[in-house]
Amino acid sequence: MAGTFIGIGVGPGDPELITVKAVKALKAADIICVPKSQAHKQSMALRMVKQILAERENPAEILELVFPMTKDELNNRKLWVENAAIVAAKAKKGNVAFITLGDPMLYSTFLYLYECVKETYPEIELEIIPGVTSVTAAAASSKLPLAEKEEVVSIIPSDLTPARIEETAKHADNLVFMKCAHHIKEFVPLLLKSGFTKNSTVALVKRCTLAEEKVLVGKLGDVESWDITEDYFSVAIVKKSQVPIHWKQNGNGVKP
Ligand SMILES: C[S@@+](CC[C@H](N)C(=O)[O-])C[C@H]1O[C@@H](n2cnc3c(N)ncnc32)[C@H](O)[C@@H]1O
Repeated sequence: MAGTFIGIGVGPGDPELITVKAVKALKAADIICVPKSQAHKQSMALRMVKQILAERENPAEILELVFPMTKDELNNRKLWVENAAIVAAKAKKGNVAFITLGDPMLYSTFLYLYECVKETYPEIELEIIPGVTSVTAAAASSKLPLAEKEEVVSIIPSDLTPARIEETAKHADNLVFMKCAHHIKEFVPLLLKSGFTKNSTVALVKRCTLAEEKVLVGKLGDVESWDITEDYFSVAIVKKSQVPIHWKQNGNGVKP
């Protein structure tokens, strides 16, 4: 009988934000799949679960799977199929857990593999353990609510055209930028055309919940003067409304 393929969300960075259910699954899985964008790169997800894996009585087999972030759809598809075959072979021998940053169902590499395994190997049981997303963690770190009452919140990933960003912004009260948040300066003119104003509130959260976390909070009109270093692990929250908050400067940026 085939084992289970389990997608585990390990949260945004702080190991204390891993759920009890995820810890149990990480301690019980026979094989832990670690996604990497390049073979030589360290995996942030593996770093987060290191302590949990060290507490196991029997060490798990660690299986590194490389998923380069490329725009070559055909090559990507080929890699997902190959990686799905590796997972399927391993699942014949036991339970295979796939660790993913944040939540597995939100812009995660796990999703492509999951779809491939589901289609090609229907005998494999599938399970998903949700995790704390970087979106909710960024809201907590910046102390800016994602949405309240009737507010609509939209998530904007990278690679959207300016027209699509403008259109999305027109219909949302609050926006979250992922994968492209460090380019926030480029989005300001589009937002100003879509109902946001220079007084709208912005938070840019870099390396959320990690020791090196940086939080910048201010008005959309201030963003131009922010010193933003490029970092893929950044989330920006932009609220149409002006939020009456008091911020003070500290070593990690501007914090409440
Ligand atoms: C491929 S998506 C993965 C999202 C993830 N599945 C989640 O639920 O948060 C990668 C993007 O998530 C965001 N991200 C993930 N971890 C982060 C962190 N610790 N701090 C800030 N942003 C983070 C960044 O926007 C990054 O570009």
